[in-house]
Amino acid sequence: MKEKINQYLEEVKAFNAETYDQLEQFRLKFLSKKGLIPALFADFKNVAPEERKEMGQLINGLKKAVQEKIVALKEKLDSTTETKSSGYDLTLPVEAPLGTRHPLSIVRNEIIDIFSRIGFVVSEGPEIEDDFHNFTALNFPPDHPARDMQDTFFIEKDPDIALRTHTSSVQVRVMENTQPPIRTISPGRVFRNEAISARAHCIFHQVEGLYVDTDVSFADLKQTLFYFARELFGEHTRIRFRPSYFPFTEPSAEMDVSCNICGGKGCNVCKYTGWVEILGCGMVDPNVLSNCNIDSTKYSGYAFGMGIERITMLKYRINDLRLFFENDMRFLKQFESAL
Ligand code: DAH
Repeated sequence: MKEKINQYLEEVKAFNAETYDQLEQFRLKFLSKKGLIPALFADFKNVAPEERKEMGQLINGLKKAVQEKIVALKEKLDSTTETKSSGYDLTLPVEAPLGTRHPLSIVRNEIIDIFSRIGFVVSEGPEIEDDFHNFTALNFPPDHPARDMQDTFFIEKDPDIALRTHTSSVQVRVMENTQPPIRTISPGRVFRNEAISARAHCIFHQVEGLYVDTDVSFADLKQTLFYFARELFGEHTRIRFRPSYFPFTEPSAEMDVSCNICGGKGCNVCKYTGWVEILGCGMVDPNVLSNCNIDSTKYSGYAFGMGIERITMLKYRINDLRLFFENDMRFLKQFESAL
């Protein structure tokens, strides 16, 4: 019996468990009802009386060794599986990617920067607007299609409250609260009831510009936007104006820049015209000035509005608008080094 116990003791000492299952098998082997240690105790009755004391101590020693082994191995398994079970080693140093600016923020900041160098200040207005600031003050006739549910997300009817459809609403708020000279740009989110596609989204971003003072002319508008286009797209950029219509400006125009991708030679981005449209603009309609309590006989002004998504797509050659809203790391990571 003594030999057996010593043999078991050797076995216990040498045992190691890689898994909880192995450890459980070990426990069962020695300690379960039909295990080796109860079997030794059962044999104990056959031990000669003079050997009982020694044998008793030996068996108890073995039992203790088994129990201690189990505790030690369990601790070891617990500490390694904590870090392994999730598939991550929680003790590794963190390798978190540094946050980067969203491309829309990069371009918005650049636009703000360019205009602030010539004295424009940033103004903001609410995203939830009333009819007056979004439409009426801006000279929209009552039956204008933009007032239709198809284009505008209404929150309440009579009086109409809607998500602003453009940042031109901020013009109105600035003019209501400030007398000229006014030089301001208003970046912000706008909302339109559009199906989402590679070219359209129901949420997008605009920057509105407004300049009101005595003797402001279309020439001032052109020169300012020329400066802007060159700063943003490079010094060889050319611009052209095409007559257009907006209710709040008269005359109105759309401005194109020479395609920065092919340099004006013609490519699929500019549809082989060499030009891409980037903004709408015009002289503030005198009705809009008077709607905002500005004396239209004394002051004149120009305004312009551009979509940040469109400009960002041109600048970074992005061909699907939806990428801006998906927050896919593979897309965002490409802007790591920008501003
Ligand atoms: N609000 C127009 C739009 O959302 C953009 C715009 C055009 C703004 C001409 C202007 C402007 O200030 O003069 O499409």
